[in-house]
Amino acid sequence: MGQHFKLRLRNSSQVVCVSSTREQFKRKGDMNNLAVKQNATVVVAMDGTIFAVDTEEALSKLDWYQTATFDQDFDVSGKAILPGFVDGHTHPVWSGDRVHEFEQKLAGATYLDIHKQGGGIGFTVAKTREASHEELEALLMTRLDRMLRQGTTLVEAKSGYGLETETELKMLRVLKSAQDKHAIDISATFLGAHSVPKGSTPAEATVDVVDKQIPAVVAARENGDIYVDNIDVFMEKGIFDSDQSEAILSKGKACGMCINFHGDELTFMGSGELGAKIGARAISHLEEVSKVGIAAMASNDVFGVLLPTTAYVLRITPPPAREMIDSGVLVALGSDFNPNAHCLSMPFVMNLAAVTMKMTLSEALVAATLNSAASLNKSDMHGSIEVGKWGNLVVVDNAQWTHVVYELVDAPIAAVFVKGEAVPM
Ligand code: NIG
Ligand code: FE
Repeated sequence: MGQHFKLRLRNSSQVVCVSSTREQFKRKGDMNNLAVKQNATVVVAMDGTIFAVDTEEALSKLDWYQTATFDQDFDVSGKAILPGFVDGHTHPVWSGDRVHEFEQKLAGATYLDIHKQGGGIGFTVAKTREASHEELEALLMTRLDRMLRQGTTLVEAKSGYGLETETELKMLRVLKSAQDKHAIDISATFLGAHSVPKGSTPAEATVDVVDKQIPAVVAARENGDIYVDNIDVFMEKGIFDSDQSEAILSKGKACGMCINFHGDELTFMGSGELGAKIGARAISHLEEVSKVGIAAMASNDVFGVLLPTTAYVLRITPPPAREMIDSGVLVALGSDFNPNAHCLSMPFVMNLAAVTMKMTLSEALVAATLNSAASLNKSDMHGSIEVGKWGNLVVVDNAQWTHVVYELVDAPIAAVFVKGEAVPM
């Protein structure tokens, strides 16, 4: 009797491993080396990790392979296999519809115009404060299902529509209960400083986050009610300035969270410079980042999480991805899913990254897999097809993987596997 395995995907036209080593993301400028294996097979062990990746020819010579049996066994000739996508930046816990703001923006209103009138984040905060745990969890579960069907197997997810202790904790509890039930992996981020609550000043809001919200989050984490991986701030003109952002992020870091914040989105704020100084793991957006900020991020290994949906929806200039990659910044991608940018699809994000930010298709794939995983400190188990990592796999319904980026709107995805289990499509 041979060994028994959870899954075999046999004879794929191309298995795009993304990395031949776990440290590819550190070899800057190597985003065009995808380690593709042709006519290859992936075997996932019963514990959900990848057991073997090799050509059918090489595997068929091995004794264990000749006698092996599989719970699920698929011939995927004519199809390509990619690592599960990693969405490096989302705001998926909220209630309340903002489609009316989409129309206002199309008619010429800017993001900050709507924000100043109490719309935008303020609108979603009011609706999310009113919503029950159950309502928010149901909305989140549906959004996670949609992400998974588009190939996302790890997602960063933020709180930030409470702006006070009670609702921020409610959002983090919703993330924990979704994580307990859903197949997708969630990296949870505390974003109590997403905006300044009505009736408060940025200075007062900073004190509230540092002295009240963070201690409450830490206490809830210690009780096991929630988990938190990262700390975030919206560092922007009229919201949190550099000193206030530093105070909040440093306090989160001292409490064991990784710094991963919104910077230089609509206005240059010196976020690359600040991130390098305070040991940030990642900075998102960066549409207005400076040359000095880019150099500081590159020399301190601060990931740049680029969100091409934001510039697309707001009709602003996208971040200088080419300059960042060519300067040695570790570039990752995220959908920025939120009521302003309603996008749950990493294939669409890769398409935008290539067309609007001039990234190559290979760079877009590395940024949407291994680099995103590394920006969340999760590249030990996520982001590439390697023995020992999770069997998180996207089967592309084409012999060439690039079709998943090329075919707009309904990406040709034949199947998605999480830890070797097929996702219901
Ligand atoms: O990443 N810029 C700040 N936060 C979000 C938008 C959130 C919202 O508009 O609700 C972003 O784009
Ligand atoms: Fe965001």
